[in-house]
Amino acid sequence: MRIVILSRGSHLYSTQSLIEAGRGRGHEILVVDLTQLTFIIEDGESKIMYNDRPLLGIDAVIPRIGSSVTQLGASVIRQLELVGMYSLLKSSALLNSRDKLRCMQKLASENIAVPKTIWLGNHYDIRRAVDELGGLPVIVKVLEGTHGNGVLLLNDDKTLISLLNLFHKSGEKVIMQEFIEEAKGADFRAFVVGDKVVAAMKRQASPGEFRSNLHRGASATPLQLTDEEEELAVRASRALNLEVSGVDILRSAKGPLIMEINASPGLEGIETSTGIDIAFQIMLHLEQQFNRQKNYSTTSPLE
Ligand SMILES: Nc1ncnc2c1ncn2[C@@H]1O[C@H](COP(=O)(O)OP(=O)(O)O)[C@@H](O)[C@H]1O
Ligand SMILES: [Mg+2]
Repeated sequence: MRIVILSRGSHLYSTQSLIEAGRGRGHEILVVDLTQLTFIIEDGESKIMYNDRPLLGIDAVIPRIGSSVTQLGASVIRQLELVGMYSLLKSSALLNSRDKLRCMQKLASENIAVPKTIWLGNHYDIRRAVDELGGLPVIVKVLEGTHGNGVLLLNDDKTLISLLNLFHKSGEKVIMQEFIEEAKGADFRAFVVGDKVVAAMKRQASPGEFRSNLHRGASATPLQLTDEEEELAVRASRALNLEVSGVDILRSAKGPLIMEINASPGLEGIETSTGIDIAFQIMLHLEQQFNRQKNYSTTSPLE
C-alpha cells in the first residue's frame, strides 16, 4: 500500500514507529506535513496538493493531529474525504473527541458512564452546580486543553466563583466535573484499534499531583483491564467513530467511567511501558480496512 502519515515531523516517536511498522509490512510510507498542503475546491474536480503537485495514488492516510492544529487537521481530513481518500481518522471524529463537552455528550448519548459534568449557562447558580456535583472539591476543565493544562481542582467556592467569572470574561469555555477522588491520581489508558483493546497501561500521578498525564511526570505501568473496562473502552471508541483511540478510564466507586478519548494517541508511553508494537497493530488494521474496501468496490453492483 501507499500510505501517507500526516505529521509535523518524521523525527517524532509515534511517526517513527508507524514508519518502521509500515515499511516492515512492505508498504510505501510518505510523511506529509499537514501545514504544507494546499486544497483546490471545485465542483467534481477537488484536489489536494503537496509541494505544488496533486497528491495522488494514495491508498490510506494516517492523520496524527496535534492539539495546536485541530481545526487545520479537520480541514485537511475533510479535503481528503472530499477527494475520496481513505483516512484512518474522520474529521467529525477528530472534532468530537477534541472538545471535552462534545465528547461527554456523545458518550452519554450512547449510555456510556462518564464523570458527572456540568456546562453552566450564564445565570446558573454556581453553588447549586457544586451541590449537583456532590460538593467540593470539583474539577474545572477548559474545553480544548491537553496534557493536563487547563484542568483544575477547586477546593473552595470563593476561588471557584472568581475563576469561573474570569474564564467567562476572557471568553474561555469550561466545564465543571465531579472529582473522582477514589481514583487516587490514577487513570487507565486503553489503546483501542478497531474493536479491540491492543494494550493498556496505568498512569499514576506524581506525589502531590492529581493529574495523571505523562507530560506532568506521571509513571506508566502495563496493566490488564477487566473485561467490563475493555468492553467500555471499545464502546466509547465506537461512539466517537474512532478506529484508533486512546481511551482514558477512571476507576470510581460507581464503576469505570470514561474521562477522555484521544483521537491521535501517542505511542511512546504505551509502547515503551507495555513492550507491545502498537504501530504494527495499526498497520494490520489499515490493511484489513483497505482489503475490505477493495473487495466491496469489486463486488459492488454499482461497478
Ligand atoms: N473528574 C475527574 N476526577 C479525577 N481526576 C480527574 C478528573 N478529570 C481529570 N482528572 C485528572 O486530570 C488529568 C487530565 O484531565 P483530562 O480530562 O484527561 O485532560 P487533558 O486533555 O488535559 O489530559 C487526568 O488524566 C486525570 O488524572
Ligand atoms: Mg488526558
